[in-house]
Amino acid sequence: MDRREFFDRSAAGWHRHRAEDLPPRLARVVAEAQFSAGDYVLDVGTGTGVLVPLIAAAVGPEGRVLAFDISLRMLLDARQRIPSEQVLLVQADVHRLPVPSDTFHRVVCNAALPHFGDRLAALREMIGALRAEGLIVISHPIGRRAVNARHRESGGPVADDRVPPSKEMEALLRDVGLGDVVVIDEPDFYLARARKI
Ligand SMILES: C[S@@+](CC[C@H](N)C(=O)[O-])C[C@H]1O[C@@H](n2cnc3c(N)ncnc32)[C@H](O)[C@@H]1O
Repeated sequence: MDRREFFDRSAAGWHRHRAEDLPPRLARVVAEAQFSAGDYVLDVGTGTGVLVPLIAAAVGPEGRVLAFDISLRMLLDARQRIPSEQVLLVQADVHRLPVPSDTFHRVVCNAALPHFGDRLAALREMIGALRAEGLIVISHPIGRRAVNARHRESGGPVADDRVPPSKEMEALLRDVGLGDVVVIDEPDFYLARARKI
């Protein structure tokens, strides 16, 4: 079973199996992303779109959200809950995003980076879509250790998918040419943010 099959099979019920204290953590992710009204945003690995309504609210009616996922079943679930005017849901692999370069104000990747087969190539693809001065935000609102433990317990194709420790993440983001790198690695919250220069 590959990761796409794994997430297709996990899609049913994904939205229900969320930690009760997740909403304030998701709100913190949105605050750290520093959205402005009218922003164009990519949400990569959107799953059932947990962040999409929060992003859509933050960028307002003039803003747009393009939400990508490799799993069609995740996107079909997302479509049931997400207002479509501002949001486009697209099935695509992060390694080949069907978007123009230098266009988006923000790229958000929540609880998804460890699952990408080629992390560096995926990062380069996401950064390519960002416009100059745009921010990329990579988040794990339940924290790095909890995510890594959950993946180990799940087994299968995600068993070894790991959130990088802060030093490794900082180095990765600087190596791909980003600036203003910030990594928050608290016991219950993880977020990395960096700016395209
Ligand atoms: C753990 S889920 C997180 C979903 C959502 N962002 C959330 O916070 O609930 C990871 C998501 O990444 C997607 N994904 C995995 N590999 C991908 C890839 N190569 N390209 C795009 N999405 C991918 C999966 O299908 C899955 O929906």
